[in-house]
Amino acid sequence: MSVSLSEFWHWFVLAGTLVSLVLFMWLLYANRHTSENQTTGHVWDGIEELDTPLPMWWVGMFVLSVVFSVGYLVVYPGLGNFSGVLDWTSTGEHDSQADFHDRRFAPLYRELAARPLADLQADRVAMQVGRRLFINNCSTCHGVSAAGTFGYPDLTDEQWIWGGDFDAIKTSISAGRTAVMPAWGPALGEDGTTNVAHYVLGLAGQDHDAERAAAGKPQYDAICVTCHGPQGKGNPLLGAPDLTNNIWQYGGSLEQIYFTISNGRTGNMPAHGELLGADKTHILAAYIESLSQ
Ligand code: HEC
Ligand code: HEC
Repeated sequence: MSVSLSEFWHWFVLAGTLVSLVLFMWLLYANRHTSENQTTGHVWDGIEELDTPLPMWWVGMFVLSVVFSVGYLVVYPGLGNFSGVLDWTSTGEHDSQADFHDRRFAPLYRELAARPLADLQADRVAMQVGRRLFINNCSTCHGVSAAGTFGYPDLTDEQWIWGGDFDAIKTSISAGRTAVMPAWGPALGEDGTTNVAHYVLGLAGQDHDAERAAAGKPQYDAICVTCHGPQGKGNPLLGAPDLTNNIWQYGGSLEQIYFTISNGRTGNMPAHGELLGADKTHILAAYIESLSQ
């Protein structure tokens, strides 16, 4: 990907750069002279100001740097949209280095991914490779230890929203997951939402107002069962979490549950299949599955 300047800025940069180079050389040329005893003509109290010539080494360096700039601008990008005769770009350099490393490590990943799952998970070095991949690709969201944080599920426990067997984990990683918990505030109203929130607290075995929970139950049975099930056990096909395990992706206080029900939630696990390729996805899934064992 390269970003190009608009016509105006292209010419602005190009003209500005070339004109300055010419001005530098003119400045040097205009001030040239070799006589040691030349004065500027300024005299103060009989003291004359000398105009000593610039040292030759300095002039040489100056000329060399101008010559270097011209060469640089021919070869590398610098003059507006002119890309330089080498066609060098920083993204191109990044891509070619990434390619180089991909090719270098691809055989290692292929060899690991071809092993039986149990073997792979028992191999300490292979799991370290998995951990490295996790830290590089996943830790920004799930945390370095994979324990998750607000909005990002814990991957080390035995509770899975989308399924915890190897294949389900692999699908989560390669295809991504998009959860849609609609906003129920408008339908339930403030009072209704509070009642259902108390009912949810009750499902999780937490302190709650029993009267309000009883008032919320019909609403739960009418709306929430479709996704969270009659007992609140959730549905991995929809990514609707189990509401009874007292593990909360978005917090388990009355206020947080109220907010979730009222405003909805749309957790998104981005698809990584294309980015990682099949072998790395396989190793990562094996690593993730091993975390909860
Ligand atoms: C941009 C943030 C982000 C990144 C990066 C990310 N994830 Fe996720 N991941 C999420 C979110 C958010 C969810 C929960 C989706 C939901 O709300 O159901 C999730 C869910 C998951 C799940 C399903 C958990 C369950 O309980 O079913 C797995 C497995 C997973 N991620 C693994 C990974 C792995 C492995 C990587 C690295 C390749 C990764 N994630 C990278 C945000 C991210
Ligand atoms: C269309 C399916 C659907 C319906 C209907 C639905 N939910 Fe959800 N719910 C979800 C999904 C999917 C998530 C996960 C959202 C995410 O991960 O971003 C969720 C998340 C939640 C959470 C957050 C759990 C946590 O771990 O933080 C609560 C609480 C909740 N729902 C309660 C309810 C209640 C109460 C109702 C009824 C008023 C309801 N849901 C109706 C699909 C649904």
